[in-house]
Amino acid sequence: MATIVVLSGSGLSAESGLPTFRDAAGLWKQHPWQELASPEGWRRNPELVLEFYNERRAKAWAAQPNEAHRAIAALEQKFDVAVITQNVDALHERAGSTVVLHVHGELAWARGTGPSRKRQCLEGAPIHLGHTCGEGTQLRPDIVWFGEETRYMDEAREIVALADKVLVVGTSLTVYPAAGLVEFARNDAERVVNSLDLDEIPAGFRFLAGKATDIVPKVVAHWMSGTAP
Ligand code: APR
Repeated sequence: MATIVVLSGSGLSAESGLPTFRDAAGLWKQHPWQELASPEGWRRNPELVLEFYNERRAKAWAAQPNEAHRAIAALEQKFDVAVITQNVDALHERAGSTVVLHVHGELAWARGTGPSRKRQCLEGAPIHLGHTCGEGTQLRPDIVWFGEETRYMDEAREIVALADKVLVVGTSLTVYPAAGLVEFARNDAERVVNSLDLDEIPAGFRFLAGKATDIVPKVVAHWMSGTAP
């Protein structure tokens, strides 16, 4: 069975009503990431950080997968598919994708701030100051902040290096090391990237401009029928 890897970013969930980061109405256009998505910001004002993620968590928990999420899940009927996502929402899983690596963490989970980083599932619930993990340390969002280590990168590089087809969707490819995964794609792999716009198209990739809900179902229909998009 041929293998497909999907590398996704916030643009994929934009049509499910969740904000991206760097577009005109993006989160980092409205809020300073240094205060909200860094260990320093957490130390300076944990309440502000918790409030920010509580709001994002409630929105993400209420959101529904869109046509693009569903098309990606449908690929599993014919292909071995792995999704490597920078997204912290659960929309891939809700659409039915069974192999999803969240390299930047997950909003629906919290973790302790002690050495064991004990995780616990929150679904859409908020975290407040004083909420502690089973070991008594303050809970924080289970999100990878700037300056913290991105997850699953060894597995991710291997998956990309083995894939017959690579679909990149809804990411500006500006945050490393996740953005560097495209460089591990095989030269003979079919490589497609979809976004509204992109500063730099990765070498060997075909750029399909447009909304994910328009472009991704078409790419999937081609692959399911054995033709090239
Ligand atoms: N369909 C397809 N692409 C879209 C859509 C859409 N409906 N809407 C926006 N896009 C594209 C934009 O053109 C842009 O290229 O999605 C991309 C969003 O880019 P960013 O806002 O930079 O988001 P992302 O790449 O996911 O950010 C990476 O940065 O802040 C950190 O940890 C955070 O995981 C995040 C990482």
